[in-house]
Amino acid sequence: MQDCTPLRGALIGCGFFALNQLRAWQAQQGVAIVALCDSDPRRLTAFAEYQPDAALFTDAQIMLDELQLDFVDIATPTVAHKPLVLMAAQAGLQVICQKPFAATLEDARLMIDACAERGVSLTVHENFRWQAAIRATIEQLRTGSIGTPFFGRVSFRSGFDVYRLQPYLAKTPRFIIDDLGVHVLDVARALFGDVSRLTCETRRVNPAILGEDVATVMLAHDSGVTSVVDFSYATRLHKDPFPQTLLEIDGDAGSLRLLADFRLQVHDMQGGLREVDVSPQVPAWSEAPWSAIQQSVLSLQNQWLDHQRAGTACETSGTDNYNTQALVEAAYQSAETGTTVKPRRWK
Ligand SMILES: NC(=O)c1ccc[n+]([C@@H]2O[C@H](COP(=O)([O-])OP(=O)(O)OC[C@H]3O[C@@H](n4cnc5c(N)ncnc54)[C@H](O)[C@@H]3O)[C@@H](O)[C@H]2O)c1
Repeated sequence: MQDCTPLRGALIGCGFFALNQLRAWQAQQGVAIVALCDSDPRRLTAFAEYQPDAALFTDAQIMLDELQLDFVDIATPTVAHKPLVLMAAQAGLQVICQKPFAATLEDARLMIDACAERGVSLTVHENFRWQAAIRATIEQLRTGSIGTPFFGRVSFRSGFDVYRLQPYLAKTPRFIIDDLGVHVLDVARALFGDVSRLTCETRRVNPAILGEDVATVMLAHDSGVTSVVDFSYATRLHKDPFPQTLLEIDGDAGSLRLLADFRLQVHDMQGGLREVDVSPQVPAWSEAPWSAIQQSVLSLQNQWLDHQRAGTACETSGTDNYNTQALVEAAYQSAETGTTVKPRRWK
C-alpha cells in the first residue's frame, strides 16, 4: 500500500521569490510546509501570514535539530546555499536549492558530494526549462518535427524594472549572467545539450547599477548545434515580453519560432506554417507578469515529487546544474579575457 503521509518540508529564506515556492507547495498533494526559516525576524514574521500554522525559526540549524523533516527548500541568496545545503545533507534531508546554485564550481562540487555521501537527493530550483512554452519546444525537437537542429537562438530581452523588487541586483558586480543568464543558458542546454566552447561579450548600459546588464553568448554544443544566447535588461520595447524567453531554432527539415505571447510556429520544408498556442495553464494564485514563471515553479515541484516517489534524480539535479553553472563561469571568463572558453563539466 502506498504511504500517504505528506512529506514534511521547511522553506528556508522567506523573501521575494519564496512566496511563489510556498504557494506552489500549498497547491501540491502530499506535501506540508511545516516550518519557515529566515535569519531576518521581520521578514519571517511578515511571511508567516501566508502559512500561519508553520513553526518559525531564525536559525536553520536549530530548526533542523528540533524538527523531524523530510526536505528543505532553500530560497536564500547564493552566498548562503553552501552552508545550508551541507547542514541539510548532514541531517539526512532531501534538498532543493535555488539558482544560482553555487558561488563557485568548487562549492557546487562540495554540495553535490555531501548530498551523495549522505544518500540524499539534491535538486536545483532551475525552473525556466519547466515553462510550458519551453517544454512544448523541447517536445517538437524530440519528435523530430524540424529534423536535426543546427542553429538556435535563446533570447530574453526586456526593460522590466527588476531592481524594484530585487534591489540587491543593482549592487552585485556580477549581475545578468549570474542572475538571469543562468536560466537562459540552462534553457539552451535543455534544448541542445552540453557545450564544448563558448564566447561571450557583456555591456553595462544602465549607469546606476554595478554589474553587466547585457550579454551575448555564442555556444558550440556537442550535438552540432551552434546557439546564440542573448539577454538584456536594457532593452526598451513598446510591448515588453518580460519574462518570456523567445526561441529561433533551425533544423534540416524545418524551423521553430517561439514568439511573444506563447505562439510556437512550426515551419516545414514545403514553406508551410503551423502555429501552436503554447500558453501556460496558470495557477489560480498567479499574477501577471509572473504567471508563466509561477507555472514553471509548480511544474518543477510536480517533477520533484514524482522523482521522490520513484527514488530517481530530477532533471535539474545538482550534477546536471553543475554544467549550467559552468557555462556562467565560462561566460564571465570569456568576457574578461576576450577568448573562447571550454566550460568545465561534471564527470
Ligand atoms: N527561479 C527564479 O525564477 C528566481 C527568481 C528570483 C529569485 N530567485 C533566486 O531566489 C533566491 C532568493 O532571491 P530573492 O529575490 O527571493 O531574495 P530576497 O533577498 O528577497 O530573499 C532572500 C531571503 O533569504 C534570507 N536569508 C539569507 N540568508 C539566510 C540564512 N542563512 N538563513 C535563513 N534565511 C536567510 C534573507 O533574510 C531574505 O529574507 C536567489 O538565489 C535568487 O537568485 C530565483
